[in-house]
Amino acid sequence: MRQRTICVIGGTGFVGRHLLLRLSQAGYRSRVPLSQPSRHRDLRLIPGCEPVVLTGWDEAGLSEVLTGCDGLVNLAGILNEGAGRAFEQTHVGLVEHATRAAKRAGVTTYLQMSALNADPAAASEYLRSKGRGEAQALAAASPDLRVTLFRPSLIFGPGDHLFNRFAAVLRLWAGPLPLACAGARFAPVHVGDVSEAMLRVLADPGRQGQVYELCGPRVWTLGEMFEWTARRLGRRLRILSLEDRLARLQARIFERLPGRLFTLDNYHSLQVDSLCGTDGLARLGIAPADVELVVPPDLGSMPRF
Ligand SMILES: NC(=O)c1ccc[n+]([C@@H]2O[C@H](COP(=O)([O-])OP(=O)(O)OC[C@H]3O[C@@H](n4cnc5c(N)ncnc54)[C@H](OP(=O)(O)O)[C@@H]3O)[C@@H](O)[C@H]2O)c1
Repeated sequence: MRQRTICVIGGTGFVGRHLLLRLSQAGYRSRVPLSQPSRHRDLRLIPGCEPVVLTGWDEAGLSEVLTGCDGLVNLAGILNEGAGRAFEQTHVGLVEHATRAAKRAGVTTYLQMSALNADPAAASEYLRSKGRGEAQALAAASPDLRVTLFRPSLIFGPGDHLFNRFAAVLRLWAGPLPLACAGARFAPVHVGDVSEAMLRVLADPGRQGQVYELCGPRVWTLGEMFEWTARRLGRRLRILSLEDRLARLQARIFERLPGRLFTLDNYHSLQVDSLCGTDGLARLGIAPADVELVVPPDLGSMPRF
């Protein structure tokens, strides 16, 4: 049987790398458009993965990369603007180019990574642009292009931007931790379950053309996740939960610092709990992994694969 080829936009990121490995294990070939090949030479180590240098991320450029592909997964996303990348361009403009390119290249299956609470009317521009991106993708849906959306809570796993980032903060910070939005709630979902969900949708046209919310089995507050990370690092942590005015002030200060650890837009995202209304993993027959069972004790020192 012919091997199916899946193009993964955003394949160089945390979720993308896990998905590429799972695609390879499942017998797919993959193609990854990227701008800076020298930063991602290790992708060639994944059997069946073909990095393709792309300079023009428009319909014409993308349709060339997509020629011969059976499916397209769009994982491109940013949490903060900067380094020449903007929310509108990444979460909306790229979706328009990618869906048009998919149709031009005859690709019939399109999967898009969005986020829980994505909504054109949300308070944060991250979530508003994700919401506009969903609308853009759904508007492109047709009998020739089945569009499936994934809306995860926070995603954890080796190389994540979650527990690894908390561990990095805690290694730099010795005393009680002043934390904004400490009570914000999430249901962190394992990157292996997210990848498996995408695999199952790619394999079964009957599961395409739907929206899947993806959550882990347990609800955590932001404060609990920091405390848990501290315990894993062998530390006891006292959290100073910042009241609203100080939380905004912290965001205004931190967004001006290098690394933009916390921004006002992040603050707005955290005003809404990131919890699932429907269980997308259960609909796909996947039992979700728990943080306690799979986050390694050597946080922050995990290789990218
Ligand atoms: N991680 C989470 O907890 C979480 C939770 C909810 C939703 N999501 C969504 O899941 C997706 C993957 O997240 P992640 O954690 O894997 O993020 P990540 O590690 O930061 O990777 C993001 C990927 O998107 C690419 N990208 C960003 N802006 C782009 C642009 N304008 N044009 C082309 N490519 C662009 C990056 O390419 P470069 O290598 O060139 O930078 C990278 O491959 C994102 O859409 C994110 O919003 C993630």
